[in-house]
Order: sequence, then structure tokens, then C-alpha cells
Amino acid sequence: MKTLLIYKSIHHGNTEKIAKVMANSLEAELMDLKNYQTNLIDEYDLIGFGSGIYFNKPHKKLIKFIDDLNDVKGKKAFVFTTSGRGTIGYNDLLINKLSHKGFKIIGDFSCKGFDTWGPFKLIGGLNKGKPDEEDLKNVKKFAESLNGEIE
Ligand SMILES: Cc1cc2nc3c(=O)[nH]c(=O)nc-3n(C[C@H](O)[C@H](O)[C@H](O)COP(=O)(O)O)c2cc1C
Repeated sequence: MKTLLIYKSIHHGNTEKIAKVMANSLEAELMDLKNYQTNLIDEYDLIGFGSGIYFNKPHKKLIKFIDDLNDVKGKKAFVFTTSGRGTIGYNDLLINKLSHKGFKIIGDFSCKGFDTWGPFKLIGGLNKGKPDEEDLKNVKKFAESLNGEIE
């Protein structure tokens, strides 16, 4: 199964950090959205979409990117985010949009990430050191569960 991970990670590289662990586990291609070339996803069987959360949403360029994709027929996909709050519900927007495009969502993951946005900077930031070793273990477990899903 050929797997591609596309991500947007602009604050502290938190999402990129977990994307790297996923890519390693899944033997996937890892790509910052800014390096994406048209129609590349056609060449892959499974696509992971990842982003930090900015003002309660994934990065607007990733949202637009998904909005602009052509419809697919049941291509497998998963979603991952890091955020100050770490809530899994932040994944819903991408899950819904991808489902409407015809993707079959086979999993999603979220965890907390170091956050120095706005007032949090004054107190040295939230979630220092996150994603940490424990989070990365969970990322690995998540990726392995996907491997089970696609074998
Ligand atoms: C401009 C900005 C807005 C943010 N808004 C939110 C938010 O609404 N909710 C939240 O939980 N975290 C928020 N965060 C924290 C980030 O989601 C968190 O640090 C995330 O791990 C960043 O991922 P990245 O390092 O991959 O960019 C915000 C961070 C920035 C810089």
C-alpha cells in the first residue's frame, strides 16, 4: 500500500514531529503541503492529512487544498492534528470534508503540542516538551493500528 502524508505545521513543528513518526511506521512518503504537486495523491492508496490547529481550525491552506481536490471513490485516508487543547474533535472538520470528497476515513489521531501563541508566550508557553515520548509512543501505536487496517 503506497502511503502519502501531507501536513501543515507552522508553529513549532509539533505536527511535523508526529507526522515523521507515522511516516516511519507506515513506510510512507512525507510531504509539507507547500511541496505538493498537482494530482500526486492519485499515485497513492492511503493519504494522511495533518495540521496544527490555529484559531480552532486546521491551517486554512490545508482546508482549501482539500476543498479543491477532485472527488475520489473510497480512497483511504486518515487525519491527525496537534493543538494547545489536544482535543480529538478538532479533527472533525477535515474528516467531514474528506468524507464528502469520497474518502474512506480509517482513523484519526490528536495530541497536545507546545503552544506559545499570544498570551501563552508570557508564561513560557503551554505544553512544554509536547508532543513528548509518551505521545510519540501513542502515535506509533496509532500508525500500527492503521497498518492492521490496510493489510
Ligand atoms: C495563531 C495560533 C492560533 C492557535 N489557536 C489554537 C486554538 O484555537 N486551539 C488550540 O487548542 N490551540 C491553538 N493553537 C496552538 C497550536 O494548535 C499548537 O501549538 C499546535 O501544536 C501547533 O502545531 P504546529 O507546531 O505543527 O504548527 C494556536 C497556535 C497559534 C500559533
